[in-house]
Amino acid sequence: AEPMIIALDGPAGSGKSSTATGLARRLGWLHLDTGAWYRVTALLGGREDVDPADAVALGRLLDRVDRALAASDWPGEEPRRVLVDGEDVTAAIRTPEVSASVSRYSRVPTVRERLNAGFRRLAARTRAPGVVAEGRDITTVTFPDASLRVLLTATPQARARRRAAQLGETDVAGIARDIAERDRRDLAVVDFLTPAAGVVSLDTSELTLGQVIDRIVDLLPVDR
Ligand code: C5P
Repeated sequence: AEPMIIALDGPAGSGKSSTATGLARRLGWLHLDTGAWYRVTALLGGREDVDPADAVALGRLLDRVDRALAASDWPGEEPRRVLVDGEDVTAAIRTPEVSASVSRYSRVPTVRERLNAGFRRLAARTRAPGVVAEGRDITTVTFPDASLRVLLTATPQARARRRAAQLGETDVAGIARDIAERDRRDLAVVDFLTPAAGVVSLDTSELTLGQVIDRIVDLLPVDR
């Protein structure tokens, strides 16, 4: 049988990653951080100077990402480590350089199709009893039939505050500008600020992480 899936979308600073991490830990499910794999694509693509318009080079790059993704099934640990051919890239994919370059790759339809296919394959054959998948288009494109679909939102101020705390930064206004710039680029690809039909919208601005996780667990279908 298909495992149960919780699909979580939302922008940077909405609390999406902490929520997905906490849910996966609480439920003992696979945490699928799809943004991490877009980041891996940008990291490897940048290192090897892959032009997203070069179909052959892009195909080779995506083959490599696909293999690493397929090998990432349910190590059980949270937060997740991201491994590519034995190299731990967990920190390398979070640098500002990678954050700024992801959209160069994530806006290419082939990249989205190949990654989405990989996410669906992983979810279909995971050893985990369920999957918490987070990203931008998970509720709409990757897993539109998920058992539960939630869009996390937060005010720009709350998002900038959280991101700054996460990065240990004091320049909240600078972070707010970076977030707005990344939103602008990402929104050209998928609208992750408007809930699609049937998607529960949850504003996390005034909620603690524990409250957000409790709400989502309460929303899970009871027959699981
Ligand atoms: O979630 P995170 O901020 O780590 O995602 C990094 C980048 O990956 C986003 O800015 C976006 O360009 C891309 N992404 C995407 N679709 C997803 C997840 C991430 O385009 N489902």
